[in-house]
Amino acid sequence: MKITKQQIGKVPQNRIDMKNITQAKDDVLVVGGGGREHAIVWTLKKSDRIGKIYGAPGNAGMGVIETGLAATDVDGITAFAVSHPEIKMTIVAPDDPLAMGLVDKLESAGVRAFGPKRAAAKLEWSKAYAKDFMTRYGIPTAEFATFTDAAAAHAYVDKCGIPVVLKADGLALGKGVLICETREAAHAGVDEIMTDKKFGNAGSSLVAEQCLTGYEVSLLAFVDGKNYSLMPTSCDHKRALDGDKGLNTGGMGAYSPCPKFTRELLALAERTVVKPTVDGMIKEGAPFKGVLYFGLMVKADNSEVKVLEYNARFGDPETQSVLPLLESDLYDIFEAVIDGTLDSLDIKWSDEKSINVVLASGGYPLSYKKGCVIDGLENVDGANVFFAGVKKCADCDKLVTNGGRVLCVHATAHDFATAKRKAYDNIAKITFEDCFYRKDIGAKL
Ligand code: AMP
Ligand code: GLY
Repeated sequence: MKITKQQIGKVPQNRIDMKNITQAKDDVLVVGGGGREHAIVWTLKKSDRIGKIYGAPGNAGMGVIETGLAATDVDGITAFAVSHPEIKMTIVAPDDPLAMGLVDKLESAGVRAFGPKRAAAKLEWSKAYAKDFMTRYGIPTAEFATFTDAAAAHAYVDKCGIPVVLKADGLALGKGVLICETREAAHAGVDEIMTDKKFGNAGSSLVAEQCLTGYEVSLLAFVDGKNYSLMPTSCDHKRALDGDKGLNTGGMGAYSPCPKFTRELLALAERTVVKPTVDGMIKEGAPFKGVLYFGLMVKADNSEVKVLEYNARFGDPETQSVLPLLESDLYDIFEAVIDGTLDSLDIKWSDEKSINVVLASGGYPLSYKKGCVIDGLENVDGANVFFAGVKKCADCDKLVTNGGRVLCVHATAHDFATAKRKAYDNIAKITFEDCFYRKDIGAKL
């Protein structure tokens, strides 16, 4: 914002915000178009340093300039960022472009980018690499074996403990994990992943691992290569239906923080998991810069924390509960991550409780209808709506559904009971054909 001398003359001296006068605003490009990216954009908009926000692709509910570029269009995104020098940072949120090396490509083209390079994102895009990495650096995880040959994998599941967890090595839209309760199911699982290639090339190699029990916690950290700063813990709900029934989905809701995860457990996770991972990536020659997500399994008696998975990015839908608790400027944090100066920031989080519930299209995660008009959004009060699968209605001024996970309703409060009530009271105001959502997000809190 430019303020002329004349305008300054009219403002009492003590009311002039010097930051606004002296600091030009930066435009940014956010890669991705789901609820997670909307939460990132919503948080960035709180910064008085941010100008225009472009989305690649973005969505019609996010309040960004939609570029029409797919998140995986590595060349198109790079060309767009290069030809818009007013874009001072490109933030890469989803897993696929990170695995494709979008950050490497942007940096080579002289574009400032937030997110790990391909070699660091390997912690997510190769489960076999992640498991070997954890073995090399003594990071606690389930016992495992890796196979590139189906016959050897079959021979292993003939003898291994049951249940056994089978994982396609590569990215598989979060679906390449099979928990096999019987030996027959394990043999069928090996065939699905390695022979039938149900998850495509992700199944060229397979990780078989011991099935862990306990409860799951998502721990996210900003990492600048050598320093890290933890975010509040969170928990997502992966199954489609209440009571953790139904098919696995991309996530049906989340809450933050996770009250069961005590300070002692956090200290244990930092010492045995977070620090060794950050240090290990330096030793690997691939320092991690971006958001590192630790999917943890905690033993029911709280005696042990093990890593189930790494993600090289913000989680979805955890981010929609975590970021609203951030009191510091997210753009400052992104800059510090890129510049390796995270240790100079004192990042502040609210101690409120946060919850978000996904409203999905009937049939999700299988087939579902698109184009259903979403009504009632104007009545939402005291909650946030983060949009995912939506687009503009062709012949009305409303949004219509355009995906499986359509939107999520998020609320914060001093206690979880109030946050849940605020979220569910507002959900009742939103309607679209065949809408469904879980009624039990955070029910056990
Ligand atoms: P991943 O993509 O590796 O996190 O796996 C997806 C989900 O599968 C996890 O969030 C867990 O719910 C489950 N899972 C993965 N590995 C294991 C394991 N070793 N034991 C039990 N559950 C697991
Ligand atoms: N919520 C799990 C993920 O983002 O992969």
